[in-house]
Amino acid sequence: MTTYKHSIIIAIDGPAGSGKSTTARLVAERLGFIYVDTGAMYRAVTLAWLREGKPDIEVFLRNLPDISLSRDPQTHRQMTLLEGVDVTDQIRTSEVTEQVSYISSLKTVREKMVSLQRNIGTDHNVVMDGRDIGTAVFPKADLKVFMIADIQKRASRRLEEMKSKSKHHVPSLDELIQQMKERDTYDSSREIDPLKMADDAMLLDTSELTIEDQATIIIEKAKPIIIKHSHGA
Ligand code: CDP
Repeated sequence: MTTYKHSIIIAIDGPAGSGKSTTARLVAERLGFIYVDTGAMYRAVTLAWLREGKPDIEVFLRNLPDISLSRDPQTHRQMTLLEGVDVTDQIRTSEVTEQVSYISSLKTVREKMVSLQRNIGTDHNVVMDGRDIGTAVFPKADLKVFMIADIQKRASRRLEEMKSKSKHHVPSLDELIQQMKERDTYDSSREIDPLKMADDAMLLDTSELTIEDQATIIIEKAKPIIIKHSHGA
């Protein structure tokens, strides 16, 4: 049952490195909405599976770890908690990235994460980014954006991001292109809620856009929706 109609939902989907997270965070900040990075939740489940030593998947699914989201009190950024412990940095390693598409293709995992995501959207105005927000999590979202960019751009942006953090192993550009292509193919071809543009989503090609441009485009689209909502529509 969908009971989220009292809050405003902006759904941003798209492939790896298309600029979703940075844009979504900025849009949320400017609109005073909560930003939810759903990929982080799937990454946290994957981290749990890796930490347990990759147990048999049926056994793992029987007792899924507790995942929750919180806010850093200073920066207000999303913190991802695994069994109550902050794993925001640990979920970004290449080991997690390599396995996350597999773990997030599993029905039990998706059901649990989607239910958590819907609960957040029930009480708050949110900008939520992921792969299936506009198609499966909130098919009636107030605004849906599907972000794409050419693979060279996506990979070089991601490489810069990785270098700036540089805590973890940084692959070459070619390796990264290969990894991103593989992840996109896996995410788009899985059986349950694959990465796919919703029919009523706005397509936003960010290849030649800045984060500022992207945020402005989405905010302009959102404004009339927010006004209408404030008039009780
Ligand atoms: O690396 P990037 O930021 O693009 O990915 P992410 O948003 O952190 O998502 C990591 C992975 O989680 C994706 O490759 C998908 O396999 C999965 N995911 C998903 O299945 N559904 C979502 N709503 C979000 C992420």
